[in-house]
Amino acid sequence: MDRPKFPPFIGLIPVLLVVFFAVCSSAQYQPNWNSIDSRPLPAWYDQSKFGIFIHWGVFSVPSFDNEWFWWKWKGIKQADVVKFMEDNYRPGFTYPDFAPMFKAEFFDPNQWADIFKASGAKYIVLTSKHHEGFTNWPSKYSWNWNSMDVGPKRDLVGDLAAAIRNKTDIHFGLYHSLFEWFNPLYLQDKANNFTTQEYCEKVLWPELLEIVNAYKPDVIWSDGEWEAPDTYWNSTEFLAWLYNSSPVKDTVVTNDRWGAGIRCHHGGYYTCTDKYNPGVLQKHKWENCMTIDKVSWGYRRNAPLADYLDMDDLIELLASTVSCNGNLLMNIGPTADGRIVPIFEERLRSMGDWLKVNGEAIFETTPWRAQNDTVTKGIWYTNKTTAAYAIVLDWPADNQLVLGVPIPNSQTSLFMLGYNQPLKWSGITSKPGITVTMPQFTPDTLPCEWAWVIQMKMVQ
Ligand SMILES: *[C@@H]1O[C@H](CO)[C@@H](O)[C@H](O)[C@H]1NC(C)=O
Ligand SMILES: *[C@@H]1O[C@H](CO)[C@@H](O)[C@H](O)[C@H]1NC(C)=O
Ligand SMILES: *[C@@H]1O[C@H](CO)[C@@H](O)[C@H](O)[C@H]1NC(C)=O
Ligand SMILES: *[C@@H]1O[C@H](CO)[C@@H](O)[C@H](O)[C@H]1NC(C)=O
Ligand SMILES: *[C@@H]1O[C@H](CO)[C@@H](O)[C@H](O)[C@H]1NC(C)=O
Repeated sequence: MDRPKFPPFIGLIPVLLVVFFAVCSSAQYQPNWNSIDSRPLPAWYDQSKFGIFIHWGVFSVPSFDNEWFWWKWKGIKQADVVKFMEDNYRPGFTYPDFAPMFKAEFFDPNQWADIFKASGAKYIVLTSKHHEGFTNWPSKYSWNWNSMDVGPKRDLVGDLAAAIRNKTDIHFGLYHSLFEWFNPLYLQDKANNFTTQEYCEKVLWPELLEIVNAYKPDVIWSDGEWEAPDTYWNSTEFLAWLYNSSPVKDTVVTNDRWGAGIRCHHGGYYTCTDKYNPGVLQKHKWENCMTIDKVSWGYRRNAPLADYLDMDDLIELLASTVSCNGNLLMNIGPTADGRIVPIFEERLRSMGDWLKVNGEAIFETTPWRAQNDTVTKGIWYTNKTTAAYAIVLDWPADNQLVLGVPIPNSQTSLFMLGYNQPLKWSGITSKPGITVTMPQFTPDTLPCEWAWVIQMKMVQ
């Protein structure tokens, strides 16, 4: 389509110059799924529980519909998107014409780092390149279609990574799209039924090596995999290199989007579908990637307040996800001028306020023997060495909270996080069921808004 053309010299890069992901036979991980799947997930990831997803790119300029804007406009020609362009832009305007308008003039990576730190998140995942192919770092393989040559004129990935590492102990991760909607090399491989790998050789593999070597991400969040088999992307070769020899081989975690039919079956942690939240315990570590703006990952200028999840929604998602062995990856979309708008900032800071009081029931927990209560709705359980936790989404109308699952004994004691005195409760030793008398609070003495956590010591 109207993607910038590659300069002729790109075609001259000797394809065989590097065997990119060379794996020697004695290496620990071999390029097959059995071997790749046998790698234990680095422990920091499961302990983290909560991360922030950031969708930022040229699509943040039109900031209309969603981050699939280019595809909606030129691919499927979605009527409202076509009309939006006709009404607001000159005839002949192309998608790449948006790139110079992606200026990020207010982008202050230190300010972003402060907000992320205040949110309590333990990792972030930034779009290094979405399906539009624009790289947020100065890629040598994305000529005139990267954030240094056009638009921001800076290394967005590098600048954010530096600020995060300077100011926080948050793990820095990168999203990366395997395919690009309109890359002519990709489209040619696709026309050849993926029997050729021109795009992989000239764009995909060199770019993956670039981001891993330059930015040492602790997460590679792969996407855009579904049109082609993993053997076209050479995913297992890449992962074997990543796990055996890359500079992040001991810390990096990856997801499951590595080729058609691979999701939910192979790779690191599972994402299955966007906004995956099964509501029941999953054996394999998984992640619920979801958006605060219900309908878009990229920033949407015309989103009304009702389209944003509120704190009750977000805490419920965090609690249900963590109880069932998932991590929550909560998405924000910054603006083309580089701001995290106040509604996103407010949600992030509120999460942090809640986690300051209740993080003990989230971070470094494991699933308990039950995930939610059997009697009272809206109760999600987690577990630790010293206690189990009931996350209570709704305050009981009569102040009496019925927990159907925990089994008390003579040593059982219950507390509310953020409130130091033991709670009154009743129940029968060795029988499931505890009734907790909730403390009397005035609005200013409530330990937190939104949801309350009962810490249960010595219960079965
Ligand atoms: C890609 O996979 C094929 C088949 O497994 C292999 O022959 C080739 O060397 C791989 N290429 C790279 C760059 O790893
Ligand atoms: C690192 O953080 C400190 C304290 O917040 C700040 O003053 C300094 O400018 C930062 N350095 C860089 C290289 O960003
Ligand atoms: C790709 O596959 C389709 C359907 O199987 C076939 O019609 C077409 O000829 C193939 N194209 C190439 C370039 O192999
Ligand atoms: C517990 O969760 C399951 C699965 O999400 C749901 O079907 C069930 O209704 C929940 N139990 C209660 C009491 O809300
Ligand atoms: C809770 O965690 C502790 C410590 O790991 C463990 O001993 C206990 O069995 C767990 N309880 C349940 C019900 O999972």
